Amino acid sequence: MKKGLAILSGITAAGTAVGGAVLFLKKKGICPRCEIKKALAKTKIHYTKDEMYNNGTALTPPMGWSSWNAFRQRIDENVILEMAEAVKKTGLADAGYIYINLDDCWHSSMRDENGKLQGDFSTFPHGIKWLVEKINGLGLKAGIYSSNGTLTCESLPGSLYNEQIDAETFAEWGIEYFKYDYCHHELISTKAPYIDSVSIIGNSIKNEIVFKAKDAVLKGDAKLIVEDNNYSYVKGLCSGLGTIEFNNIEVPEDGEYVFTLIMRKHACNGQFCVVTVNGTDKYDLYIAEHKAFSREGRRQIKVNLKAGRNVISITNPVASSMDSAAIQYEKMGRELVNATKKYAQEHNCPEKKILYSICEWGTNKPWKWGGKAGNIWRTTPDIRPFWASVLGIYEFNVKLDEYAQPGAFNDPDMLEVGNGNLTYEENKSHFTLWAMMAAPLILGNDIRDFLNADGTVDYDNKVLQILTNKDVISVNQDKLGIQCKRIKTGLKDVLVKPLENNEVAVCFFNKTNLKTEMNCSIADIHNVISVKLPKSEKFVCKELWDKTETIISDKINATVEPHGVKVFRISAD
Ligand code: GLA
Repeated sequence: MKKGLAILSGITAAGTAVGGAVLFLKKKGICPRCEIKKALAKTKIHYTKDEMYNNGTALTPPMGWSSWNAFRQRIDENVILEMAEAVKKTGLADAGYIYINLDDCWHSSMRDENGKLQGDFSTFPHGIKWLVEKINGLGLKAGIYSSNGTLTCESLPGSLYNEQIDAETFAEWGIEYFKYDYCHHELISTKAPYIDSVSIIGNSIKNEIVFKAKDAVLKGDAKLIVEDNNYSYVKGLCSGLGTIEFNNIEVPEDGEYVFTLIMRKHACNGQFCVVTVNGTDKYDLYIAEHKAFSREGRRQIKVNLKAGRNVISITNPVASSMDSAAIQYEKMGRELVNATKKYAQEHNCPEKKILYSICEWGTNKPWKWGGKAGNIWRTTPDIRPFWASVLGIYEFNVKLDEYAQPGAFNDPDMLEVGNGNLTYEENKSHFTLWAMMAAPLILGNDIRDFLNADGTVDYDNKVLQILTNKDVISVNQDKLGIQCKRIKTGLKDVLVKPLENNEVAVCFFNKTNLKTEMNCSIADIHNVISVKLPKSEKFVCKELWDKTETIISDKINATVEPHGVKVFRISAD
């Protein structure tokens, strides 16, 4: 009874405190309900786009080489070509490593007179198109890098607000892999303009037709404000909470029109809205900081309309930094698709699609929106060539298995195999874990290390042997594109990755500093929902590093080296 009373008085006290806070906010002219709604809106993603990016690339995780891990800013066209040639000569290209990617520092700090990016004049004197042709001449594909910010991480020109021209430049150069970093990004405002009216003008409409906001359909928090002099406008389109819909925009013919947004100005630090035409075409409208010296302001964009009635809706879907990142990355993805299509049409040549790699370091949970915006997305900060870094990244990325599928993969960053002070076992484990996680296999080491002084290939090189282990690569490149599920964890992990033809890969990972015995039952493997391994009396179990093949009935047993792995391909006998 006493306890009941205490709870009751606790609730009453809390109620009084909340009541007091509400009164206080109301006195200050703040709407408490709106503030709560905005706070809640910040916690979830409002950006929605139902279909996946699916541009036909990355059906299996991409494989290639990138300049960053080994060379950082010290790159030039000779180094890149030497790498491409070494990738070809050493058999890495045949093993599947087909992309040669320029990371940061390929470009000049100057855009050209048309605003296009261009290669550094000293280190890439022949220009990037020339280099791409050389790379293509070796049967390889070229990749490039920019940042979803005003500058790259090395403070060279980035692509934010230059998405279209940069995507078109990359398409013109024949680029087939594009990594988009996140340095110097700018958050999109969660504020939306107040709408007075919108108008349309175009070839078939000589005089601007105006549609007043007061006649539009208002949804959610959108609300009509009537000022004293009977002037009205609509507000409440912020943070994905309200939408205004003009469902009566009639034009005589299909085509491009200029859409004008007429705003009721009020002093603000910048606003944003997405104009959606007929439910599908989306146009971003950034409105810079303005002062309200005059009542109305006009902003114009070109939109495509169809003959007859069109529906145009306006909202600002951005409630959180996650929405902001998703929208910015999606914008570049759209431009890449448009650019390669346009280039192919204009030059009457086959389209070279661009694999789109989102490098946002996991800051805004890109696994939740990356598959809609692009092909692969970094899930963590940068990898470094030592064990703690590899392990930390694995621990994070391994939990994101539900988000991977063909055309859309988690990216735990480029490989450090062969770099820093990783031991032989650690190099093997790093490579195997990335293969199991259906991660991109982008090499980050100096490939010339695999060549002897006389230019012949050093096939005894242990790192080269790791990177060309065809059995492990085929686990990574399996067409199902499923990321492994971790079924046991602690100091020893067991990973299960369903494969084509009703097979399965199982990996034992020993994180301890001692050699250890590990095992896993077939029943545990069968418990993983996506596993299609048939029930059977016997299974063939092949270890993919030492290549031993055993027949097992109910259990896999193995001794695993410190920081080491054992990885098996299992099929019903
Ligand atoms: C960021 C990225 C790295 C690399 C560098 C280049 O740190 O995460 O992978 O691209 O920028 O400056």
